[in-house]
Amino acid sequence: MKLKGLALLAPMAGVADRAFRELCLSYGAAGVTSEMVSAKGFTMGDRKSAELLTLSELEHPAAVQIFGSEPKILAKAAKAALSYNSDWIDINMGCPTPKIVRDGGGVALMRDPVLAQDIARAVVSEVKIPVTVKIRTGWDFENINCVEMAKRMEDVGVAALTIHGRTREQMYALPIDYDSIAKVKAAVSIPVIGNGDIVDGPSAAKMIELTNCDAVAVGRGAQGRPWVFQQINAYLNDERIIPNPPLSEIMRVMLSHVEKIIEYKGEYIGIREARKHAAWYVRGIHGAASYRKEIGTLSSMEELMQLVNKVLTNN
Ligand SMILES: Cc1cc2nc3c(=O)[nH]c(=O)nc-3n(C[C@H](O)[C@H](O)[C@H](O)COP(=O)(O)O)c2cc1C
Repeated sequence: MKLKGLALLAPMAGVADRAFRELCLSYGAAGVTSEMVSAKGFTMGDRKSAELLTLSELEHPAAVQIFGSEPKILAKAAKAALSYNSDWIDINMGCPTPKIVRDGGGVALMRDPVLAQDIARAVVSEVKIPVTVKIRTGWDFENINCVEMAKRMEDVGVAALTIHGRTREQMYALPIDYDSIAKVKAAVSIPVIGNGDIVDGPSAAKMIELTNCDAVAVGRGAQGRPWVFQQINAYLNDERIIPNPPLSEIMRVMLSHVEKIIEYKGEYIGIREARKHAAWYVRGIHGAASYRKEIGTLSSMEELMQLVNKVLTNN
């Protein structure tokens, strides 16, 4: 698994689609992961899953991510996913979403490390490309078992681990548990990717310093800020701080991002999916609240261009 740097884009269902992944790679993301796909749905021929797994020529290095709770089905899904041209396969053992947890997938697997290991073993033995796993620190503060999980994964041939420094119970609440990530890194010899609240160069450096992790993954810190990878790379290389782009450049990036979404998904669906991205791009600018309101009802590229003209005139 050859990465282009130290900062990967974290998988984000509903956000990190093809347009966003390509954009983040163009700013220096070290690698990207598809939106998660249900192994069961995918193996049953679900068309939406196949769409979510499709990676373009521009998206490398890239992983496809699968979730589920049955070793055989995950192995079958991993094998089928090979035709989607991914460089490695990632298994989701960290998603806290109630529906997925109820079905025994995502972070629910951290409550059953033996089953989690069976899943990893089954997937590793089914495919020849590297298999990685994404976990959290544990289910709750009383059950922090990421070190045990990590060792079990390493034992069955998992190539690398991403660890989000929170428990399931925490969801997205503070604090990030750097100490548990450090313990995982010390306990295994496979690469460990630290994840959680990385938003710029200094927060990426902090994650690496406090945990000794081999790379980092950035999720929400890249929403509306795909250039964050350039900033992180510059800081990790020589502590250089690259400022955020000027507003005109932010608007240009937003427009080209939304154009790509529309190119891949058509204007009707594309502009609706683009609303959340557009709202992230205007975050923090003067008058953002009223722009966000307008963005919430956008129905064409034309309307978005009018909004951009207004933003640039008023700021
Ligand atoms: C909107 C959203 C969707 C996500 N979807 C996934 C997913 O499909 N698979 C996964 O492993 N993690 C998913 N995550 C978790 C992120 O990959 C990441 O672990 C988490 O957001 C913490 O990193 P951050 O603080 O950099 O955002 C998602 C997070 C968000 C905010």
